[in-house]
Amino acid sequence: MTDSRYSPFETHLGDLDTFADGPPHALFARMRDEAPVMWADAPADWPASDQPGFWNVTRAEHVEQVSKDPVTYSSWFGGFTMRSNEIGSLEVQRSVMIGKDGAEHVRMRGTVNKAFTPWRVRELESSVRTRMTRTLDAVLDSGRCDLVLDLAGPLVTSTMSELLGVPEGDRGQLDRWTDAFLSGDDEIAGGMRGDEALGAAAEYLMGLLLEREQHPAEDLITALGLATYNGEPMPREEQVGVFSQLFAAGIDSTKGTISNGLLTLLEHPDQLELLHQDPTMIPAAVEEILRWSPPFTHQRRTATCDTELAGQLIHEGDSVVIWLQSSSRDSRAIERADTFDVTRGQRQCPHQAFGGGGRHFCLGAGLARLELIVFFEELLGRTRDIQLAGSPERIRSCFVDGYKRVPISFTPVRHRDVAAASSA
Ligand code: HEM
Repeated sequence: MTDSRYSPFETHLGDLDTFADGPPHALFARMRDEAPVMWADAPADWPASDQPGFWNVTRAEHVEQVSKDPVTYSSWFGGFTMRSNEIGSLEVQRSVMIGKDGAEHVRMRGTVNKAFTPWRVRELESSVRTRMTRTLDAVLDSGRCDLVLDLAGPLVTSTMSELLGVPEGDRGQLDRWTDAFLSGDDEIAGGMRGDEALGAAAEYLMGLLLEREQHPAEDLITALGLATYNGEPMPREEQVGVFSQLFAAGIDSTKGTISNGLLTLLEHPDQLELLHQDPTMIPAAVEEILRWSPPFTHQRRTATCDTELAGQLIHEGDSVVIWLQSSSRDSRAIERADTFDVTRGQRQCPHQAFGGGGRHFCLGAGLARLELIVFFEELLGRTRDIQLAGSPERIRSCFVDGYKRVPISFTPVRHRDVAAASSA
């Protein structure tokens, strides 16, 4: 075990430009091979109040080790992003479920767990499908649209809003606050800082909670207002924290996976054709899309004591970044990791897009999978010849990987045509 911060080559992983054209996969491959746990100094333009640098964890086995040891690797201490203030201040990060440790985390998660059981998620399938059908109906005849703005955005935002109980007229505003909080991209954020966005959303949600106290409804916000844990009512600020976490975590992630997924399929037309020919392969394809291009590049933990990881001595207080985009392409964990193959099947696709396991593993994984499967089933079932109709624009972020705009064109397929084709 070495007692120096092992840093055999430069990475620039703290620099936004490194992600401007997509994840730095060649760099990640080198790190996995030569320095699977390595230190990077903070870039010169980080303020002195930030941490001096961070450890980078790039292999699947070590990502899992860190994720499953929340006592040694805290989410609360330094937040869950590479820089504590990357998406809102540390205080804001600590207010949501993913930024909590121990009993407080268990209490928050325990209160909303029930809304995400496999049974509850299955119940949502028909409403998600109806929403996707209507969303597609609105653009189908024109033969062109923006994948993110016209399809993925409306589907994902309305699904989350309906589950939580956000009135239709308020959804666009909440969506913009979420984008501003998570991406940090100036254009999307519209000049709003992450803290301001989450503060505005929290204030709005507080109002909604109070309103539901007077007029209860069949939604998660009413349930949260009534929630108790071990017989105690949940403090109001925790209710707001749960709500903002769900909204923030559930939207950009799923939107990002849809845009990354369709672009990947367009780059691999043989794989897209397989899905057109046999749509029963779509659930397995969704796993491969999640593995190939996870929407969250990384998560971060902070060491609570001196510890050792892959032969490196990590000091108490050191920041530890787990790169999910790297670990999901680790050939030690996945065969032919550098091949995008929708036929590999779920069991051959042990990706870490939803985290490396452990207590913070994505609570909405079942719902996300449902939305993604329905999205691709409906889109591919009702269109042919999907093509790019302009240049996709990436979100400028080293935390969220996805696009703000993806113009596409396609040939609509009527249900009649599908029926005729299948009876021919
Ligand atoms: C493709 C879509 C999604 C991806 C890739 C994704 C990924 C992730 C990741 C990587 C984490 C952190 C795991 C860790 O640090 O161990 C996480 C946490 C979380 N996700 Fe997701 N997520 C997605 C969709 C959703 C949806 C739809 C919801 C909610 C409705 C959701 C709710 C949450 C929550 C509440 C947490 C925090 C869990 C905790 O701290 O205990 N996510 N997600």
